Amino acid sequence: MDTRLSVSLLAGLVILLHGFTAWAAVEVNMEDRVEVFKGETAQITCMFTSDDGIGALTIQWFYVLKTGEKQSIYYQDATVQSVERGTQFTDRISVNVTAATGEVLLTVNDVQLKDQLEFICLVMSLTDGFSEGRTKLLVFERPDYLSIEGVQTGIYANEDTLSRIGFCEVKNGFPKPNITWYRNNTPLQAVPDAIKVVHSTTTESSGLFSVSSELSLKVMKEDKDAQFYCEVTYLVPGGTKMIETNLINITVYYPSTAVHVWVESPKGKIKEGDSITFHCHGNGNTPSSVYTIKHNDNEYGLENNMLVLENVTRRHSGIYECTSMDMETYEELLGNTTVFVNYLDSAVVLPTKMELDQGEEMTATCNALSSLQTHTAWFKDGQEVSVGHTLRLKDATFDLAGTYTCVVTVPEIDGMEKMQPLRVNVKGAPEIMKPEQTDFEESLANKVDLTCQVRGFPAPDVIWTTSDGKVLEPTSHTEEEDSVYSVLSMAVTSDLTTFCNATNKYGADALTFNIKAIVHTTAAATTTTSTSATTSTSTTTRTSVLSTSTESSGVIIAVIIICILLLAILGSVLYFLYKKGKICGRSGKQDLTKEKSSKDNIVVEMKSDNTEDAVLLGVNGEKLPYSSQ
Ligand SMILES: *[C@@H]1O[C@H](CO)[C@@H](O)[C@H](O)[C@H]1NC(C)=O
Ligand SMILES: *[C@@H]1O[C@H](CO)[C@@H](O)[C@H](O)[C@H]1NC(C)=O
Ligand SMILES: *[C@@H]1O[C@H](CO)[C@@H](O)[C@H](O)[C@H]1NC(C)=O
Repeated sequence: MDTRLSVSLLAGLVILLHGFTAWAAVEVNMEDRVEVFKGETAQITCMFTSDDGIGALTIQWFYVLKTGEKQSIYYQDATVQSVERGTQFTDRISVNVTAATGEVLLTVNDVQLKDQLEFICLVMSLTDGFSEGRTKLLVFERPDYLSIEGVQTGIYANEDTLSRIGFCEVKNGFPKPNITWYRNNTPLQAVPDAIKVVHSTTTESSGLFSVSSELSLKVMKEDKDAQFYCEVTYLVPGGTKMIETNLINITVYYPSTAVHVWVESPKGKIKEGDSITFHCHGNGNTPSSVYTIKHNDNEYGLENNMLVLENVTRRHSGIYECTSMDMETYEELLGNTTVFVNYLDSAVVLPTKMELDQGEEMTATCNALSSLQTHTAWFKDGQEVSVGHTLRLKDATFDLAGTYTCVVTVPEIDGMEKMQPLRVNVKGAPEIMKPEQTDFEESLANKVDLTCQVRGFPAPDVIWTTSDGKVLEPTSHTEEEDSVYSVLSMAVTSDLTTFCNATNKYGADALTFNIKAIVHTTAAATTTTSTSATTSTSTTTRTSVLSTSTESSGVIIAVIIICILLLAILGSVLYFLYKKGKICGRSGKQDLTKEKSSKDNIVVEMKSDNTEDAVLLGVNGEKLPYSSQ
């Protein structure tokens, strides 16, 4: 007995000292770790080999307490299979032994965070000794509620201290997730006096971790365009996962280093009367800058970096200096621009008015002072009559009289234009313009309007008279630039001749109007009468007008008088022959016919009538009148 006991004690010591590998026949193999999400089912496998049958083996599961001691959770031998009571696993584990493959499977249901422990599988043989293996159970939880928040207020660049940029947070992860900040896709690491990242971890009551991170930077001007975000890395069974926040940017205020001022409008050359819009901007963006523009002794405040000067004159020419004053630093920056306001003075026409004698020649000039090259032209009645400063009028006639306008323009600038009129009068006796109608036929009691337009300078006096010397009051009298218009509106009472007489110190002119009153009898009769009447009156008027107006008309009158005389002679000859023929009977008929035909030729020439009429008259000398055909 003593020997046996001592042998077995020795064996136990040997086992303890040298481990089971060298001596024990039982061997156990286990994975280092088993990874599983919280709430899922973990399976821990324990592989064993033993020469003994399953009936000779004892299998036990433990977990390791924080103190390092083992806490049994399961026991099994040939007769007993039992889950240890009163542990965190009591209701959640089951063990399945497959003797054929030498596999013991511990299943843990609904894995909890506190289950992250080391598990021990111990297999003991009655004869071959024992062996144990260990597996760590690792529990995971995906984090949620990832958020990022940027600083909303503007940040001044180049401050001495670091400025807060943003804050990231992720909640409920296990194990602890990591947060990394990125600026423009580059991860940020803490750099003294430049980059600071402060992480903090909270353990929730559930045991999960919430992690937050705050980024502070020494902000530079370039950061105005930078984009920041957080990346969260966390472990999952078998690997690492990553999620990113959305991007944030920050408002960076940076002071100006230069100021620029310019004329925004008008583009191109400026003229008097324009509105000038100045813009003045610094190349910084600090909201605390105040802008002013100075010109000579004037100082203007700017609104929205803009200044509008309305209706400028040449006095607005010069240098405009824009000052930006940073109200934080009291730093002043200057920029300037030069403005030139072009001008065109009023045109001066000399002489201011002109009075020419008929046939005279005169010259006028037109000048306007301008900062730019000008173009001068003269217009009359909308037509360009001369180009250049000088207007030369030659061989003055009434047609030359009127209002000339000198127009000075600056070709370089649209809308720069000055005008000055010049009144030109041509002295001379009145000249009545021949109206369309001087002969009227109107029914009794109707009205006729007689118009008399007279040229002449000085403006002629116009009076209306009837042929019996009665003076008529004109209905209207208008004196225009180069004509006098006088209108006489009168009721037709009887046939009437009216004169329009115009006079000034150089002479007189007159115009005759003939008014024929029409008396209505029967419609047919009236028509015939009026036709013949028109012919006769118009002939009369033509003769009278011709006799008063020109010398050559005198010749025509003489011719006509001779014609009438010849006709009278012819008439009396014919009458004499007729009488003679009656006395002498029909004996002289042959000779008579001959004589008649030669005289007929004369008639044809004189009257310019057609030959048929003449022949008729000759052949049918006795027959009266030819119009009966
Ligand atoms: C978090 O960062 C620590 C320290 O850099 C590192 O050891 C750990 O593996 C990281 N965890 C993850 C999930 O990336
Ligand atoms: C951030 O960038 C977006 C788009 O680029 C822009 O609309 C927004 O105003 C920026 N925000 C800040 C604070 O700069
Ligand atoms: C008007 O002119 C007509 C025609 O020449 C003339 O007969 C008449 O006497 C003149 N009347 C006056 C008032 O001069």
